[in-house]
Amino acid sequence: MAGPSLAGRHVLVTAGPTYEDIDPVRFVGNRSSGRMGFAVAAAARAAGARVTLVAGPVALQIPGDVERIDVRSAAQMYDAVMAALPADVYIGAAAVADFTPAAVSDRKIKKGAGNDGLVLELVRTRDILACVADHRLRPALVVGFAAETGDLEANARAKLHGKKLDLVCANRVGVAGSGFESSDNTLEVYSAGGHRRMGPAPKTTIAAELVALVAARLGEQNDPAAAPPGKDG
Ligand code: PMT
Repeated sequence: MAGPSLAGRHVLVTAGPTYEDIDPVRFVGNRSSGRMGFAVAAAARAAGARVTLVAGPVALQIPGDVERIDVRSAAQMYDAVMAALPADVYIGAAAVADFTPAAVSDRKIKKGAGNDGLVLELVRTRDILACVADHRLRPALVVGFAAETGDLEANARAKLHGKKLDLVCANRVGVAGSGFESSDNTLEVYSAGGHRRMGPAPKTTIAAELVALVAARLGEQNDPAAAPPGKDG
């Protein structure tokens, strides 16, 4: 394996979408396939870490020596992440719903006479990433993602500071060849003092590069003298 090792480290990764149920047959979801987060989890394992992967509903496989916890909703993902702490690194690649139905109907909502529309009341979910970054068991490195359709740097840096992250990986969504569902991606990785572009490349390649950066930054935290001056990331 090239690059710094994550042996002895616990890396907690989230991946995939969350499904927010409306009734027994319908939900509010998003287009995340889980590929990016699964690639990060596999790369962290390949770098020697003990890896916990909290996955939303996706049809992907992960090496058996990664501990995988399958969840459905944002609330379940929150509970699974909090239960998996402490960790040395948290990487939030999941597309967690920002809103969930205020109430879940226990019966299928029917259309009928005089029922020409349906108003769905949504309420905010808890921000898992911000809660991890604020937690008394805060991992040494907290890495968020930012899925953006525009203003990548401004939106990503707002998340970096607003959620008290160490790194934020911004990717463009709503275009072919990056973000949701595709096998390739481009990440703009921002830290307080730097920026590094990863890709365009397959998500597996980018994941390995991101994990190498994480491992290097953890190494610098243990030995600040190891940090070269003025470097990126
Ligand atoms: O799964 P793929 O098809 O491979 O696609 C990859 C991806 C586009 C899903 C991935 O690269 C990505 O960008 N993941 C984050 C998607 C997202 O929800 O972005 P956001 O900008 O809405 O959220 C910012 C950060 O807050 C994310 O780290 C997210 O996990 C986290 N969050 C958001 C809401 C919430 N309630 N809790 C959170 O933890």
